[in-house]
Parts: sequence; structure tokens; C-alpha cells
Amino acid sequence: MIYLAIETSCDESSVAIVDGGRVLTMQTVTQSVHRPYGGVVPELAGRSHLELLSRLTRQALAGTELKFSSLNAVAATSGPGLVGSLLVGVNFARGLAVAIQKPFRSVHHIEAHLWSAEIEHGEVPLPFLGLLVSGGHTLLVLVNSIRQYDVIGETHDDALGEAYDKVGKLSGFEFPAGAEVDKKASTGDAKAMPLPVPMGDQSLDFSFSGLKTAFLLRYQELVHQNRLSQLPDLLAAFQHSAVTSVVSKTASAILRYSPRALVAAGGAAANSLLREKLSTLAKSSQIPFLTPSIRYCMDNAGMIGYVAWKLDQSGTQVQFENQVYPRWPLVSLSH
Ligand code: KG4
Ligand code: ZN
Repeated sequence: MIYLAIETSCDESSVAIVDGGRVLTMQTVTQSVHRPYGGVVPELAGRSHLELLSRLTRQALAGTELKFSSLNAVAATSGPGLVGSLLVGVNFARGLAVAIQKPFRSVHHIEAHLWSAEIEHGEVPLPFLGLLVSGGHTLLVLVNSIRQYDVIGETHDDALGEAYDKVGKLSGFEFPAGAEVDKKASTGDAKAMPLPVPMGDQSLDFSFSGLKTAFLLRYQELVHQNRLSQLPDLLAAFQHSAVTSVVSKTASAILRYSPRALVAAGGAAANSLLREKLSTLAKSSQIPFLTPSIRYCMDNAGMIGYVAWKLDQSGTQVQFENQVYPRWPLVSLSH
């Protein structure tokens, strides 16, 4: 089965060709129109997807020997995400599916992130613990099998990537700022001006807004005292507290649920300290740690085509093809 897959839930426009679970080619563009605004502007995102999709589709096909007639299905993200952006992607995909007389496959964005590690690492042993950290989501999910998910932890406020973006914006970095905060933080001393570690309780939920406020107060102190040269230390303290919180929740979840593998996915799973600490945690828990390379961590169409194929393989009935779902709880998929 060969799928043409489309991802347009937020500010990445991406098209991939996926053959039997193997990504043959993928074209992903992170939209630059949002940079001056310090965050994603929904209307601009939708317009930008509209501009990009035809070209990316042509380029993706050109990267293979295939023609439109070789495709067996067209898949697209139907939610959750920005409504205007989802409508552009789903309409484009459905129009193409009608034109080539092939079926359309609706994909849940979070479900696709959870399985994305399999693209490069092969089948992950079940049940596995999925940590999804991105600009829009921070979730701990026990993945029992395809379409069988238990959400065991989620954020009460900001997503991890969102907190990085806000701290980065305050520090004068361009949006999205996660990668730059990560880089600068690794040059600082996290102990020089420590920040509190959020949510030190028993729950598996997350919260980053208090840490963000603590960062803001210390940042203002640095500005008033003309000590901005110490910004890397403050960023290192932020990174240390945020990552410690995520890793200690993940450790508690492993103890409580004894999964057979740990998977980290989503754009913020590219974080260097997080990857290092999760890898150590998995080693000490004697389970494999699997995480996609950065192109499959961020929003991408490869994971959309992959999960469409996986659903077809498992004989899951076609559903959700007539709408987009801006808010679409993962648990609603479980049956
Ligand atoms: O998954 P993704 O591409 O899009 C969303 O669904 O949000 O994730 C993008 C997010 C942004 O918030 C970005 O700042 C963050 O991932 N990010 C990072 C790093 N690289 C990207 N956050 C922390 N450390 C990084 N190295
Ligand atoms: Zn995402």
C-alpha cells in the first residue's frame, strides 16, 4: 500500500510518500511567516499551507519513480490542531483522493506522534510508555496497542515546547526558540541561580507556568542589575528544572506501569538534556529508549502516512473522514 500523506495541523506544511510503513520521501517546511509575531498566527498558517501544498506534493512525488496513479490512498491529519490549517490539508487530500479515485484516510495527530519512533526503529514492544512533548502538547500515554491508549499524565497549563518558546522570546530569540534556548543553556551553569522544579507531587501531570514566572522574575533582576551576561546560567537553570520535572514524572510512570519500552516524540523531544536523561532513565529501568530523529520528532507527514498504514494493517474501520477535529481527545479513539 502506497500512501500520499499530508500534515497541516499547525505551522509545518509537510507531504510524504509512504510505502508499506517505509517513508520513501518527505518534504517539510516550517513556515517562516510567524517569526515576527513570536508565535503561530492561525490565519497566516492556513494561508501558508494553501500556498505550499501543491508544490510540496509535486516535489514529494518527484522524489520517487511514482505517478499519482501508483498511489493507493491519501491520508491527512484531521485533528487536533488549528481549524483553518486542518481544513486546508484535509480538503486538499480529499480532493486529490477523489481525483485519483482512491480512499481518503483520516489521521489523529497525537496518535501519529506516538508511533513515529517505529519509522526508524521498527516495532516497539508493547505496552510502551509514550512521552509526547511539543509546542502544543505534553502528555504521558500508556500505549497498549494501536487505538488502545491510556493518558496517564498531561499538562495543566503550558506545553513544554511552549514554555521554551516563551522563555526564548523573553530572551530575545526568534520563534520557535526551543532549539536556541537548549543550545545557550548548555553553555551555562544551572547551579549559579537555581529555579524551582515544578510539580514535585505524586501526580503524573505537568505544569510549567510557575517555572516560567520564576524565570521572568530572575530575568528582570538580571536586567535591573546589568547582569545579562549571566543569561546562559539562567537558561541552564530553566532547562534543568523543566527537564528534571519531565524526567521524574516519566520515572514515576515507569515504576507504576512497568512498560516494556520508553518512547519520546514531538518537537521538544529534540532537547539535548531531555534525551540524555531519558536515555539514562531507560537504561537504569532496563527497557529500550526509542526516539525518532529530529525530522520525525517535529510535525511531519511521514508519521501521518505511517499510522494510516498501521491502521489499515490492523483492519481498523475507516472513521472520522467527514470532518476536522480541532479538539480531539486521544482517549476517544480507544474502544
Ligand atoms: O512537534 P512540533 O514541531 O510542533 C508542535 O506540534 O508544536 O514542536 C515544536 C516545538 C516548539 O515549541 C519548539 O520550540 C520545540 O518544539 N523545540 C524544542 C527543541 N527543539 C524544538 N524545545 C526544547 N528543546 C529543543 N531542542
Ligand atoms: Zn505535533
